[in-house]
Amino acid sequence: MKKWILTAAALAASMGAAAQGQVNIICSVQAEWCNMISTVYARTTGAKVNMSLKGSGEALAQLMAEKDNPKTDIWFGGTGDPHLQAAEQGLSLEYKSPTLAQLHPWAQQQAQQSGYRTVGIYSGPLGFGYNPELLAKKKLAVPKTWGDLLKPEYKGDVQVANPASSGTAYTMIATLVQLMGEEKAFDYLKGLHKNVSQYTRSGTGPIKAVARGETAVSISFVHDGPGEKMQGFPVETITPADGTGAEIGSMSLIKGARNLEAAKKFYEWALTPAAQEMAAAAKQFQLPSNKSAKVDARVPDFKKIKFINYDYAKYGASTERRRLISRWEKEVNSLPR
Ligand code: G6P
Repeated sequence: MKKWILTAAALAASMGAAAQGQVNIICSVQAEWCNMISTVYARTTGAKVNMSLKGSGEALAQLMAEKDNPKTDIWFGGTGDPHLQAAEQGLSLEYKSPTLAQLHPWAQQQAQQSGYRTVGIYSGPLGFGYNPELLAKKKLAVPKTWGDLLKPEYKGDVQVANPASSGTAYTMIATLVQLMGEEKAFDYLKGLHKNVSQYTRSGTGPIKAVARGETAVSISFVHDGPGEKMQGFPVETITPADGTGAEIGSMSLIKGARNLEAAKKFYEWALTPAAQEMAAAAKQFQLPSNKSAKVDARVPDFKKIKFINYDYAKYGASTERRRLISRWEKEVNSLPR
């Protein structure tokens, strides 16, 4: 009898572990947050988590490359536009989460627009990061509008990411096109190019450079500021007075995932308030998509920001995203400085 109980317990334990299985994740938020969710999820569920960190554009490129033989089960985070593009290209799987009703309308809308192939997990506004000490030393004013960044005195002191690898930089291009109209936006980008010292691979590179005094100004998601500040760096953020865009950070299950059941469990966990609150614990201050998740005081106050009416469907479409990025490569990035 005793032997039977022991065997049953061992069997249940092994079944439990097998049921949780393994999950392969591409993570497109900052490393601190990726590491936290991977560790906590693995410890609390017994699942084996394989995680690789990639910028939003790079993640999309990898998923396209492995389309016929997917090695990824789930893509967590990164700007929403490439997630919409993945949905359109049949790289992600349709899944209607029972948790959808608990999410903010913008997160649900992201799901609807993709035919339920992606979902919003957080949102955050685009703006500028600046180093007040460096600005004071160089006798430069805090930039307040997009136009301010074109002033010659900022030459060599502005950093932004490269839109081919970074969702942050693509959000900037899409925002400017919606704010100014496409021709004026490209004139603007050409003007900005003269002041940009470097286009970084990752979207957070520029604000890290600002924090460390390597450049005075960055074009960044403003929720990336407080985490740098908490490390003691002199960095502040501002959103342009003439209007800005916001990302809908997203999550998608991958079509053909080898560990689909395990991936769905992770997906559901990631939509819970407790999992979403881990962002702030990892010094990440986006607005969580679950309405019941606590909002940290350092999360930007959306009510105080002038937003454009960002057309997520249009700028998440493959042809539009590819066209705008290649136009930027040809007409802007190729120009001398
Ligand atoms: C940071 C931000 C995220 C954003 C991501 C995009 O991690 O905190 O909110 O989604 O950058 O990264 P990327 O490198 O694609 O611009």
